[in-house]
Amino acid sequence: MYEYFNEPFSFKLDLTPEQMLKVIFEYTAKIATEKKLENVLVLMANMGRDMVVADRCTVWLIDAANNELFTVVTHAIGEIRIPYGSGLVGSAISTGQPIFIDDAYGDPRHNPESDKKTGYRTKSIMTIPFRNNQGEVIGAYQAINKLTQKQSFSTQDMDYLTLAAAYSGKSLESIMLHQEIIETQKEIILAMGNIGEGRSKETGNHVKRVAQYSYILAAGLGMSQIEAERLRSASPMHDIGKVAIPDAILQKPGKLTAAEFEQMKEHCTIGYRLLRKSKRQLLQAAAIVAWQHHEKWDGTGYPQGLAGENIHIYGRITALADVFDALGSARAYKEAWPLERILQLIKEERGRHFDPRVVDVFFEQLPLILDVREQNEDLFETE
Ligand SMILES: [Fe+2]
Ligand SMILES: [Fe+2]
Repeated sequence: MYEYFNEPFSFKLDLTPEQMLKVIFEYTAKIATEKKLENVLVLMANMGRDMVVADRCTVWLIDAANNELFTVVTHAIGEIRIPYGSGLVGSAISTGQPIFIDDAYGDPRHNPESDKKTGYRTKSIMTIPFRNNQGEVIGAYQAINKLTQKQSFSTQDMDYLTLAAAYSGKSLESIMLHQEIIETQKEIILAMGNIGEGRSKETGNHVKRVAQYSYILAAGLGMSQIEAERLRSASPMHDIGKVAIPDAILQKPGKLTAAEFEQMKEHCTIGYRLLRKSKRQLLQAAAIVAWQHHEKWDGTGYPQGLAGENIHIYGRITALADVFDALGSARAYKEAWPLERILQLIKEERGRHFDPRVVDVFFEQLPLILDVREQNEDLFETE
């Protein structure tokens, strides 16, 4: 019986070279085809655990933007985050040096707090930083409780974990890079969307809500997850063309003259021209949204006066999301409409302003839409 475990336990043996190869092949094949970062972290952790015959293993990564370290232990728990530099993992990462502890309770570097909470008994610990191709430390492996009779980790175990990190490093890096690019794109789009809206009396949460409504409508219409997500990211840019409309028009408190309104309408075409040259699918979607969000199902909209399905579905969805949100928000020049009146208008405009199918999905998904509206309320209304 192994005193450090609650359950009956017999010691295990270190892997034979054949077993080691089998573990490496099995995991690296899975890791290479994995697209999600959290899955790669779990696979890497399990691979390391099996290779060094540890009871537990975690893979920590650096989130430089937030000055934190994070890991995913299981899918159920999700991400865990700690400040950069804290704990054994933090010190291994910041010094670039591995840390071996044979008996955690005899070592001041070990913090017994989490054992106290979970009832787990940590004995041996091995924490090793790992690097990318450029030699920069990007994370650390932490293995806990060696399950062989020796009960402590060796430098050979360290070599194995370094190997595990090297085998998965490339997949890890490309996934992280991919995520970074996607996140950056989203942030830029939201920022650009806010510029367009900010110039035109809309509040910050307007673009966020329009994004969520568009996603709900797209998914409800049966679009694929990828496409619905693409529209969610693109729809905040619907008014980006307003960057080129003069303040005198955008900020005018009263009604626009006919000439001013004509100039205002140009924001659609301007937005389209700003975005259309990009080869990125996301920006192409944003270009369509910017161009067609004021088109109407019956052909009376602008700038092209398109009708029915000649209006891209992205335009038809964003049109409803945008109008629904704008009517519900108070502005300098108007009161917020009560919900009942907005819903009435949307019903009346079914087949006129709006695509009947989109209106039907809107009412099917109304509970979800109202949740989004409540969760993203404008706390500070523009005066
Ligand atoms: Fe607009
Ligand atoms: Fe808008």
